[in-house]
Amino acid sequence: MLEVEGIHTFYGLSHILFGVSLRVEQGEVVCLLGRNGAGKTTTMKSIMGLTPPKQGGIRFKGEGIVGKEPYLLARKGISYVPDDRRIFADLSVGENLEIAMRKARVGEGWNKEKVYEIFPALKDIESRRGGCLSGGEQKMLAIARALMGNPELLLLDEPTEGLAPVLVHALEDQIRRLREAGLTVLLAEQNVRSALRLSDRGYIIGNGQIRYQGSIEELKENEEVRKKYLLV
Ligand SMILES: Nc1ncnc2c1ncn2[C@@H]1O[C@H](COP(=O)(O)OP(=O)(O)OP(=O)(O)O)[C@@H](O)[C@H]1O
Ligand SMILES: [Mg+2]
Repeated sequence: MLEVEGIHTFYGLSHILFGVSLRVEQGEVVCLLGRNGAGKTTTMKSIMGLTPPKQGGIRFKGEGIVGKEPYLLARKGISYVPDDRRIFADLSVGENLEIAMRKARVGEGWNKEKVYEIFPALKDIESRRGGCLSGGEQKMLAIARALMGNPELLLLDEPTEGLAPVLVHALEDQIRRLREAGLTVLLAEQNVRSALRLSDRGYIIGNGQIRYQGSIEELKENEEVRKKYLLV
């Protein structure tokens, strides 16, 4: 579904990604692990067209997407949930969901009711304003909003960051249910344990380069790589 091939991304003159390649097949949950500043977010933003790579290729369902505007990529079925959430503080939970709704390209797609089945806690606070939500509730709402756009590929940037352990487990269950619902997920995480529990395969990025790729089992056993690039 997603093929990233040798991308080089810059912020101004700073060269951040050095030939990053990764792929995500339909229906997979794939994690991109790495420490602070390793390049996880920059990879996500490169895919979403927010910081287009200067070199290299990105294909979504076989089509080259480098240089396409983020809103066009959203229409094509990619959704990026940034780590800083960006929900509307003045709108209620329900309104935040309604304005994110976009007609599905195929089938019935997501609506508020279906989203509330995955995130029942949001239904209980449907009329609360976005600005009055806890960190965990905001995280859920950000993902729920992304679903309303009926994505096929969800780019989740550190969904468990700053969450209490009990909420991390709840969110993991919810991400599993998204996968069961047919979504493909690329998950950027520093929370290695959580990512390993959720993912089919993983990549490790360090200083803008892919340092490891493989199965979760291999990664669990490969202490050397984990110590070197993840500090766990
Ligand atoms: N807007 C920017 N302008 C210049 N440099 C940036 C910008 N955003 C990030 N960087 C730099 O790019 C590198 C990669 O950052 P990135 O945000 O992709 O890392 P990350 O793996 O997502 O880290 P974190 O876990 O902290 O979110 C870092 O060295 C960072 O300082
Ligand atoms: Mg980041």
